[in-house]
Amino acid sequence: MNNGDITFHTRKWVRPEDLNANGTLFGGSLLRWIDEEAAIYAIVQLGNGMAVTKYMSEINFVSSAQQGDLIEMGLTATHFGRTSLTMRAEVRNMFTRQSILTIEKIVFVNLGVDGLPAPHGYTEITYDRDRVPSQHLDRMPPPQH
Ligand SMILES: CC(C)(COP(=O)(O)OP(=O)(O)OC[C@H]1O[C@@H](n2cnc3c(N)ncnc32)[C@H](O)[C@@H]1OP(=O)(O)O)[C@@H](O)C(=O)NCCC(=O)NCCS
Repeated sequence: MNNGDITFHTRKWVRPEDLNANGTLFGGSLLRWIDEEAAIYAIVQLGNGMAVTKYMSEINFVSSAQQGDLIEMGLTATHFGRTSLTMRAEVRNMFTRQSILTIEKIVFVNLGVDGLPAPHGYTEITYDRDRVPSQHLDRMPPPQH
């Protein structure tokens, strides 16, 4: 499944602490934001707060951003595996709509309480909050037998 439709959710205001020594947006800040955005997207799609980053493909820094720019981050699921979810990411400048970064593949793995990969059971994107867990998996009471 890959419909290519990216939904841009989170916006960031590029502030002095986000800059590199050249005075433009620091790539490390951007990757931190993207990883968090992907984690939240995976939790919403897989209904499990215990999902971890497994893999990121090459990162293409297309253009830079300046202090004071507004940027927006978008993700879409491109493949639901058995225990994994693959996403595509794009970051763009809200003023110019110019692409700042693309990542073709970010893979998250759904974990069970034992910390091992666990089947998530989903095959399609949800655009609602129907899978959002009511609490973190490791805070749930153990199953009754
Ligand atoms: C996540 C982790 C438990 C997976 O362990 P693993 O032994 O690779 O598990 P598996 O081989 O069963 O693979 C699990 C899934 O990941 C996918 N996967 C594994 N390696 C991959 C890779 N290099 N690229 C893409 N997908 C990969 C597998 O295809 C599988 O997906 P599927 O079930 O949908 O087919 C383990 O690698 C780990 O703990 N990594 C550290 C995670 C972490 O700390 N992340 C950073 C902080 S969030």
